[in-house]
Amino acid sequence: MAKKKDAIAVLKDDHDKVRKLLSDIEDTTEEDVDQREDLLMQLEREIKIHYQIEEEIFYPAFRDAAEERDERKMFFEATEEHHVVDLVLPEVKEADPASEVFAAKAKVLKELIEHHADEEEQEMFKAAREIMTAEELQDLGDQLRTRKEELLQEWTEESQDESPRARASSRSQSPSRQQPRSDGA
Ligand SMILES: [Fe+2]
Ligand SMILES: [Fe+2]
Repeated sequence: MAKKKDAIAVLKDDHDKVRKLLSDIEDTTEEDVDQREDLLMQLEREIKIHYQIEEEIFYPAFRDAAEERDERKMFFEATEEHHVVDLVLPEVKEADPASEVFAAKAKVLKELIEHHADEEEQEMFKAAREIMTAEELQDLGDQLRTRKEELLQEWTEESQDESPRARASSRSQSPSRQQPRSDGA
């Protein structure tokens, strides 16, 4: 039986998908209004769901396994970086895709998201491999995958009645993200 992806592989796949969407957005111009709206919609879905599964499942597990102050710092910093992306994303959604401002805001968002993903891969995921067992990471991978499927389903149901255009221009219609669990579960 082929081995299933562990938590880190699942999260890295998401990162790669997001990096691709960000560079596709960067390649658009003011003329590609529909494409910008469509790509932004996909980006929003990927980012929100990815951050949610990290905050609900991966980050608490990492925090609980963290032994050193530096590792706990990674947890707190990562959570704050999600928060900053959450603040900037609505601004890009509200910018006119036919304007130069859109590209500027999208560029800032791209840098924020990429910085965060790079740091996770280079620091947090590396540390996770040291402080968590292969079995734990495998189990977390299953949990992340299951939760992601649920959230994708919710997202699809919510957007069913909305046209892409209406959805892209509406304010923050995504399922709200829960607070990271603090019960150590
Ligand atoms: Fe993250
Ligand atoms: Fe991530």
